[in-house]
Amino acid sequence: MSSLRTLIVALSLLTGSALLAQSLSPLTTYHWQEGTLVVDTPARPAGQQHAVQLTTPKIAQVRVGFVGLGMRGPDAVARYTQIAGTRVMALCDYEEERAVACQKILREAGMPPADIYCGETGYEALCQRPDIDLVYVATDWEHHFPVAKCALENGKHVAIEVPSAMNLEQIWTLIDLAEQKRLHCMILENCCYDWYEMTALNMAQQGVFGEVIRAEGAYIHTLDPYWDHYWKNPNDDSMLGWRMKYNRESRGDVYPTHGLGPVAQVMNIHRGDRFTTLVAMDTKSVHGTEFVSEHTGKPCSDFRNGDHTTTLLRTQLGKVVEIQHNVMTPQPYNRLYKITGSRGYATKYPEEHYSLSKEQLAAAGIQTEAKISYHSFLPETEHKALEERYRHPILKKYGEMALEVGGHGGMDYIMDSRLVYCLQNGLPLDMDVYDLAEWCCLAELGALSIDHNCCAVAFPDFTRGHWNDIPTGFRHAYASPADEAATDEAARQLTQTLKDNTAKLGLWQLYDKAQTGKKSALKAYDKAKAKL
Ligand SMILES: NC(=O)c1ccc[n+]([C@@H]2O[C@H](COP(=O)([O-])OP(=O)(O)OC[C@H]3O[C@@H](n4cnc5c(N)ncnc54)[C@H](O)[C@@H]3O)[C@@H](O)[C@H]2O)c1
Repeated sequence: MSSLRTLIVALSLLTGSALLAQSLSPLTTYHWQEGTLVVDTPARPAGQQHAVQLTTPKIAQVRVGFVGLGMRGPDAVARYTQIAGTRVMALCDYEEERAVACQKILREAGMPPADIYCGETGYEALCQRPDIDLVYVATDWEHHFPVAKCALENGKHVAIEVPSAMNLEQIWTLIDLAEQKRLHCMILENCCYDWYEMTALNMAQQGVFGEVIRAEGAYIHTLDPYWDHYWKNPNDDSMLGWRMKYNRESRGDVYPTHGLGPVAQVMNIHRGDRFTTLVAMDTKSVHGTEFVSEHTGKPCSDFRNGDHTTTLLRTQLGKVVEIQHNVMTPQPYNRLYKITGSRGYATKYPEEHYSLSKEQLAAAGIQTEAKISYHSFLPETEHKALEERYRHPILKKYGEMALEVGGHGGMDYIMDSRLVYCLQNGLPLDMDVYDLAEWCCLAELGALSIDHNCCAVAFPDFTRGHWNDIPTGFRHAYASPADEAATDEAARQLTQTLKDNTAKLGLWQLYDKAQTGKKSALKAYDKAKAKL
């Protein structure tokens, strides 16, 4: 271990502040094995069980507390007003006015007002409430972990925006808490629910591409129009929004999950296969360095994140995934999403295509007189026929409503709806705490690789021995049709009653009067709200 690293570990142990969110966590230790850097896996504490396929008691009405209401959070609040059987109980942001502004969303939806929390630690009181089931975190990256940890410690399920944990120390803490408390800790990876990804996943699971052996994913999105809009922590004197500051301080793929999540599901990661090794490489930083110099007026010589980072991952079964990250250079938005199978190929960007032989297309159930060759992409008619045949059941259930509600074209709504569906039906979530770990660890493992001359780095087995327990591969969980119909109907009625009572009690009028601060008005509002 380098002396600098030893010093950081000693300092963090001394101060007890092992919460640094940079991609290299102070407490990670490793050893070398035949030229590969192997990070050490902490032993599972005695008496603690794994949480693969975790189920928890059914929750008829999912009561949610939102933490982090900047550019992203308010849209999530709006989506939850469109999901039956949920209630927004609390709104929390560092900036009080951002939390209060979201009341408008609830008012317009006819839902009851929520309670407001604010400041650096306002989320603590929110997490301690007994009447919240799920804490939904959409803060800056520095705060994902402390909020999620607090939620789990207080017995709440937690769903965290991406990337949900910034380094291995945070990842292991979340795994331990989820395992100890038997609670869900979900990564909010919305790209797993986009139309093309879900349809291609369904095809892959039914063998349309033969055996999938390679995949590519990425987050290539120049953030120039956004850098100045990210929240600036008033206690930070860097003059940068949190996201540019984070990129300046952290190496490795710091935003890997939009690219990795959907392809990891195709690859059945910790459902029969697992990532074993990665190698990462980044370009020098040009754009990031220039941005910081221009914005601070001081020359920048310490920008850690390369403009373009590439990570190659290998699995136990000999498959390869390539993930790229570039939020700096000007080029069209691209998540790549390419699936190479032994009998076919799918690619989403820059245009959606499939490539199959005529025989494979016929085996997939599509007969055609058209000239088909795997040297080119399928013609439009066959492309559409294939997509129609393999439309994912989840898209069939939520697709229409998703297009209406929106949120990145609807995928955000499908993600939230699936989370609520699984909680209401007591099913394992689509994405568990080990997915969170396997997808988010690219930042630290990649940083370790790049900082050591792009060496091979071994993945920890985050399930600690249970990556091969599910013989079916990755599958979404469903309730029986009868149970699903009963749950959906109960949820619809709960929401209708909630809206009826909000109107009947005149809650918003009482809320407005309570804003005067008069004691009698506050009392009247609290009394009416208790009747909901
Ligand atoms: N999945 C997606 O497609 C997608 C898209 C955009 C953003 N995101 C993620 O959403 C998150 C938020 O991004 P954003 O663009 O809204 O950033 P933002 O800067 O607009 O908002 C961050 C918010 O967090 C609040 N915050 C900071 N500290 C807090 C604390 N202690 N308690 C409560 N609130 C606190 C800030 O006041 C701010 O309002 C990030 O994790 C980002 O990566 C995901």
